[in-house]
Amino acid sequence: MGGLLVMIISLTIVFFAESTNGWGIDGHYIVCRIAQDRLSESAASAVKELLPGYVDNDLASVCSWADRVKFRYHWSSPLHYIDTPDELCNYDYDRDCKDENGEKGVCVSGAISNYTDQLLSYKASSSSPSNNLTEALLFLSHFMGDIHQPLHVGFTSDRGGNTIDVHWYRRKAVLHHVWDANIIETGEERFYDSNIENLIDALKENITGDWAHQVTKWESCSKNETTCPDRYASESIVAACDWAYKNVTEGSVLEDEYFLASLPVVNLRLVKGGVRLAATLNRVFG
Ligand code: ADE
Ligand code: ZN
Ligand code: ZN
Repeated sequence: MGGLLVMIISLTIVFFAESTNGWGIDGHYIVCRIAQDRLSESAASAVKELLPGYVDNDLASVCSWADRVKFRYHWSSPLHYIDTPDELCNYDYDRDCKDENGEKGVCVSGAISNYTDQLLSYKASSSSPSNNLTEALLFLSHFMGDIHQPLHVGFTSDRGGNTIDVHWYRRKAVLHHVWDANIIETGEERFYDSNIENLIDALKENITGDWAHQVTKWESCSKNETTCPDRYASESIVAACDWAYKNVTEGSVLEDEYFLASLPVVNLRLVKGGVRLAATLNRVFG
């Protein structure tokens, strides 16, 4: 009986520890579903070849893999976010993309560049792809989601909202997790019949409808760049200041007013993440 209790407590700790990083499972799933739908023929076939056989060519089903291996691959945990100086509301690669020991390039932007570079060797490699390129694809797909979560480019002292306790309606919550998961989940419940497929369909309709004229701009990087994560990170910290942190303090009760203002921001960030993941993979495998 004691053993069972210990096991339940440990599993609970593991569950909550894991749930503090990345968009939640739904956020990453949505980003990867949007992305895979937009792949060119050559990118689609490279992705299919790189994905493990058991996922049946479904990138979204492994889009949260990087969160599950954070403990096995301890080095990977600082690759999920960027800490920026408190209250500045901007991001600078040289200043901010480093880990707690000051190691340069160790942040979500550096990780996106690194795994994109690794995948560029795919074309040169032989017909049997190495395991490493499979992991590179899964890391890149996950981190492209993370860098679009506004609070994954947050303030240093509150660890991207991880130390700010709030209420999400009647429940205790952490601000970071509100943006990883609560806003998406409440949106699904309130507007999409608790069905993620309905939400994905609606976001895809926005891409071809209301947002169509902006998509090319979202996809593009400067000449010669395969991906441009510093731009994505800069947008995130601005959104964090304008929306996530705005008027929020320890103990704030976040309900309809905050939810309804934040939901369009979250939807836009998810869509941009998916569009840019596809654009990056299309350039890599083009
Ligand atoms: N740990 C420290 N800062 C973080 C952030 N911005 N997002 C997620 N985890 C973090
Ligand atoms: Zn997170
Ligand atoms: Zn993550």
